[in-house]
Amino acid sequence: PTIFVITPTYARLVQKAELTRLSQTFLHVPQLHWIVVEDSPHKTPLVTDLLVKSGLTYTHLHMPTAKDRKLQEGDPSWLKPRGVEQRNEGLRWLREDRRAQPGGDNQQGVVYFADDDNTYSLQIFEEMRSTQRVSVWPVGLVGGMKYERPVVEGGKVVRFHTGWRPSRPFPMDMAGFAVSLKLVLANPEACFDGEAPMGFLESSFLQGLVTMDELEPKADNSSKVLVWHTRTEKPKMKREEALQAQGLGSDPAVEV
Ligand code: UGA
Ligand code: MN
Repeated sequence: PTIFVITPTYARLVQKAELTRLSQTFLHVPQLHWIVVEDSPHKTPLVTDLLVKSGLTYTHLHMPTAKDRKLQEGDPSWLKPRGVEQRNEGLRWLREDRRAQPGGDNQQGVVYFADDDNTYSLQIFEEMRSTQRVSVWPVGLVGGMKYERPVVEGGKVVRFHTGWRPSRPFPMDMAGFAVSLKLVLANPEACFDGEAPMGFLESSFLQGLVTMDELEPKADNSSKVLVWHTRTEKPKMKREEALQAQGLGSDPAVEV
């Protein structure tokens, strides 16, 4: 089955670096369709060009985050959920596009939400490819812990190893689960709730789709970390700004 990877992305200094790393990981994954959704009122030339040259099968979409939902400069990053409208736009496209294909709602496929800054082992894609409904696995370096993971007993997920509000319906990071395309198509209303309280974004999507008992643990009964919630440091531009003030800034025609 094809893996449909939905990636929200937004313009910032490290965007091209993030998307370059991600696209070159995906090049090693067979049968992957990348759905890139820019948080922008239009498709940008940087992302357009990167996708054209990527060698990947992709769909390029855009959906700006509503102004009152968008993080402002200086806001702590946890204040508002990120990537919500973009993931929902990716789901909207996927449902519409797949319906139009032969087979309609009854199609093999797996849907995964891959943020542009995480680190993905190739192995995680082979693990998720056999997803029947919703598969789950550990995520490294997340939630202020070495890893969070579903705890598996007798082949079933019985609880979650997490340091924060374990009572959440699905206390997992976005990178820790994949959903079958059939389930996504069979539940056309399932989407991410931008109004969900902090930490409940993943639950807002999964709640209507699956129960804990039905989760399919991957990565050796959720004992292996195959994806990491890495975050990229914001580059300092002190020297750049100083040089710019003297008219000696870097050439704006050079894309970074
Ligand atoms: C954590 C989770 O790993 C995310 O999946 C979740 O969306 C987020 O928290 C949340 O609570 O909303 P974190 O590393 O803090 O992630 O978030 P980012 O990586 O900064 O953003 C998640 C995705 O949204 C990225 O792909 C990013 O490019 C995109 N994004 C971020 C936008 O599209 N617009 C923005 O303004 C910010
Ligand atoms: Mn991130």
